[in-house]
Amino acid sequence: MNKFEKLISKKNKSKIVCLTAYSKNIASILDDHCDMVLVGDSLGSVLYNYKSTRSVTLDTMIEHSKSVKMGIKKSLMIVDMPHNTYRNNSEALKNAKKIISKTKCDAVKLEGANKVVNIIKYLIKNNIPVQGHLGVLPQSAKNFKFKGKKLSERNKILNDAKLLEKAGVFSVVLECVESSLAKTITKELKIPTIGIGASAYCDGQVLVTDDLIGLNKINARFVKKYIDITKHINSAIIKFKNEVKSNKFPKKKHSY
Ligand code: KIV
Repeated sequence: MNKFEKLISKKNKSKIVCLTAYSKNIASILDDHCDMVLVGDSLGSVLYNYKSTRSVTLDTMIEHSKSVKMGIKKSLMIVDMPHNTYRNNSEALKNAKKIISKTKCDAVKLEGANKVVNIIKYLIKNNIPVQGHLGVLPQSAKNFKFKGKKLSERNKILNDAKLLEKAGVFSVVLECVESSLAKTITKELKIPTIGIGASAYCDGQVLVTDDLIGLNKINARFVKKYIDITKHINSAIIKFKNEVKSNKFPKKKHSY
């Protein structure tokens, strides 16, 4: 079984764990615990304070992904293709190949369905494994309200999910999708659904690591802060500052 078959085989057996990483040190911690590590273009807002992920460039994604790869030994590593890097088949293939050859990641993720389904098919035909992304699509979203309230929207998202599965994606991220719709999609697809704000019905969950450790200040319903890491960083920095000021650091053993 290859990495992708192994992941798909988890459906209905064990939940899939996915988190984001933007650099080596976090990636190496995640690698022991995650099935998948995603270099998400969320790094645009989390690290660079961009108003949207639309400003993230291919080179930025590649540099962060190269760093992440250094921390990954076993997890499936996925890299987001940023906005405006997959507008047609040849652009998408050129850029996906660049991402994979420079970062040695396992797969790329693209947002959307009917506009990109032929591009996704083309990438897969050219041996580029693709993860889909439905629901709230940050690269094109006008707002970040959850999806699946109206019947027409529900039908569209369900059909899009089936379309992506038929195109050959190995899994699909459902972002801010109403719970019963996520349940239906998860039931109807043979590939795993990975939810973020899309209920426990999904086959797996993804969160932005900086959100769950409290490093990124965000107030979204779907985020659970498992630790306030800034408190711990603060107390370490204060200790350092005090020891520098009182001449307690560095000691002889820290000096040459
Ligand atoms: O960019 C990202 O981090 C993502 C996840 C939130 C799914 O796409």
